[in-house]
Amino acid sequence: MKTRLTLLIVTIVIISRISLFAGEGMWIPMLLQQMNEKEMQEMGMKITAEDIYSINKSSLKDAILLFGRGCTSEIISKDGLLLTNHHCGFGNIQKHSTLEHDYLTDGFWAMNRNEELPNPGLTATLLVEMREVTDSILFGVEKDMSMVQRKGIIKANIKRVTSNFEKGSKYKATIKPFFKGNQYYMMITEVFKDIRLVGAPPSNIGKFGGDTDNWMWPRHTGDFSLFRIYVDKDGNPAEYSEDNVPYQPKYYFPISLEGVEENDFTFVFGYPARTNEYLPSYAIEMITEVGNPNKIELRETRLDIFKKYSNRDPEVRIKYATKDARAANYWKKMIGESGGIKRMDGIARKKEYEDKFTKWAVDSGNDNYVNIMPEFSRLYEELTPIKVAAEYMKEGGMSIEIVKFASKYYKLVQLSKNDPKNTEAINKEIDKLKAQNKIFFKDFYEPIDEEVMTALLKLYDENLTSEYKPDFFNIIHDKYKNDYKAYTDYVFAKSIFDKKEKLNSILDNYKAKNYKKIEKDPAFIMAMEMGILYRDKLGGQMAQLNNSIDSLQRIYMKAQMEMSPNDRFYPDANFTLRVAYGNVAGYSPKDAVYYKHFTTLEGIMEKEDPDIYDYVVTDKLRELYDTKDYGRYADKDGTLHVGFAASNHTTGGNSGSPVLNANGELVGVNFDRCWEGTMSDLMYDPEVCRNISIDIRYFLFIVDKYAGVGYLLDEMELVKSE
Ligand code: ARG
Ligand code: ASP
Repeated sequence: MKTRLTLLIVTIVIISRISLFAGEGMWIPMLLQQMNEKEMQEMGMKITAEDIYSINKSSLKDAILLFGRGCTSEIISKDGLLLTNHHCGFGNIQKHSTLEHDYLTDGFWAMNRNEELPNPGLTATLLVEMREVTDSILFGVEKDMSMVQRKGIIKANIKRVTSNFEKGSKYKATIKPFFKGNQYYMMITEVFKDIRLVGAPPSNIGKFGGDTDNWMWPRHTGDFSLFRIYVDKDGNPAEYSEDNVPYQPKYYFPISLEGVEENDFTFVFGYPARTNEYLPSYAIEMITEVGNPNKIELRETRLDIFKKYSNRDPEVRIKYATKDARAANYWKKMIGESGGIKRMDGIARKKEYEDKFTKWAVDSGNDNYVNIMPEFSRLYEELTPIKVAAEYMKEGGMSIEIVKFASKYYKLVQLSKNDPKNTEAINKEIDKLKAQNKIFFKDFYEPIDEEVMTALLKLYDENLTSEYKPDFFNIIHDKYKNDYKAYTDYVFAKSIFDKKEKLNSILDNYKAKNYKKIEKDPAFIMAMEMGILYRDKLGGQMAQLNNSIDSLQRIYMKAQMEMSPNDRFYPDANFTLRVAYGNVAGYSPKDAVYYKHFTTLEGIMEKEDPDIYDYVVTDKLRELYDTKDYGRYADKDGTLHVGFAASNHTTGGNSGSPVLNANGELVGVNFDRCWEGTMSDLMYDPEVCRNISIDIRYFLFIVDKYAGVGYLLDEMELVKSE
């Protein structure tokens, strides 16, 4: 008995320590003063919450922008110079690249402002102000309303409040739910539209380590690129024009030459996209023990086939580079996430908390909270098989390239069938498809897709019950006797979607009645049958269950906050500006192993291998290493630091975020997390969750010593306390 009691006490201590640890949390900037300032200062911060976020004076937030739609960036000069990751600028760098000017491979550096390259469609969004608007958004919402009614009212309120605001303003307004819909905030933003490329290192710096090192520490990637914001003559956001001028920001980050030391306080200020920290154990179980393993297996099957062919043929390697990177990124993330939850015994920990929760609900007479856990259990049990089926459809069926490609012809078929005289619409659709054909065939290698199809169909078939399988499996069973290869051969022989010339000639001479040819195509049929299964069954059932889960999750969130009125809660990430803070720290990834908190150029040389694509080092970098010409970018220890790890709680979207020291000076650019800690989107473990940043001095070194565009440093403010 005595030992049990001690055990219990120990567990409680651990749990409460975790919920109080400062590394965890993505905090709302306008609430820092009341929620976090004291702790941040105790941890070493020398500035105030008002310095970080203010609507009365210029503050750090005025230098942080959402970059495109998925990353963060920060202003580092009075002339609107914008710093983000290489992998965030990748698409735009690629768009400017040709065989003659391969900026991805060789890097790109504008030698003066006239050489900076415009990027149509790329935006950078600045938060002007945020406001709490919960009361206006929940106005008219009653307790016992159905989820559908509730959603309707909220949607109408959001529309009313944003359009009222926008009528009298030059800014844009967006309203998002926080704490699972218990609170709402309005984000007032300014959207810049003329963002030019200024510089990018070659891929063997900006993507050093490639997918081999992705999601891993120790890391040596120089993951940065530089852009510049341009505005019209009056300083307002404007579409690209030659007459536009560099943006003069309200604030830009001074850059520290000091570097960081172990335990130093740092904070990350940026745009985390999505976390789910308040899910019940049933959801964690579904994600990490069912969903992830299925998806991992499906992706691994695909990646193995990509690799086999890429190793044989460099041309295939290029064709599949982006597809491979995309599939590999979350494949690796999911392995890390499931492994991390297991290692921290996440499900059992959640269950323990849930028992405590239900006991509290019973003891405190909160009858409507008592049933939350049984309800979650029932809902997730119902949801799991449906979700699995939907994921198989996406990661299995729809990952067969020609099937996905064929699905793009759905609209053309519908138009031709239902509105055959509408030649304008049909022609417009044909033009769109022609453009898509070009893109598809440029990077398509048939032997890969055939092998992928055979392998994925087998997994799809073996792992689902028949009620969740699309109809084409009946043909595979009855006619092909489960010979997936034979069925694949039939599809590829008969389909037009792997035959470029044939497909183009159909589009070139298209008549509405030709839709019949497409409709009979076996790849198109596969896509349609999945579409029908989703529309008539999976989609509807999932939406209904998700509505109930969302509603329950909202109540559960509120209840947790009531149960622990003295605890601080942070809302899940939702692509709004947040502050995370922690310490520079190494960690122990496994028994007997400890990783230090920083990496150096020595490590790049250790990894160097001219025969392995991910580890090629250019002569120029090796020369700089040999002569140890690091100048003022060297650390006190004489080496050149490349990256560092810290306990800031970050997620996807935080890429490119500024990492700041106690004075609010830039010391790094965030770009990844360590593998052992990728479960931080579901549960944060202070022992192993680390964000990975490029040391800002490595960035300066590359710009100055490697690229020789030191003129860019003239507009920055480099600081070093003597
Ligand atoms: N792991 C990084 C983050 O999730 C991405 C790194 C770039 N992508 C890649 N496949 N190497 O976005
Ligand atoms: N690499 C991620 C990004 O691109 C960051 C992360 O997930 O930690 O946003």
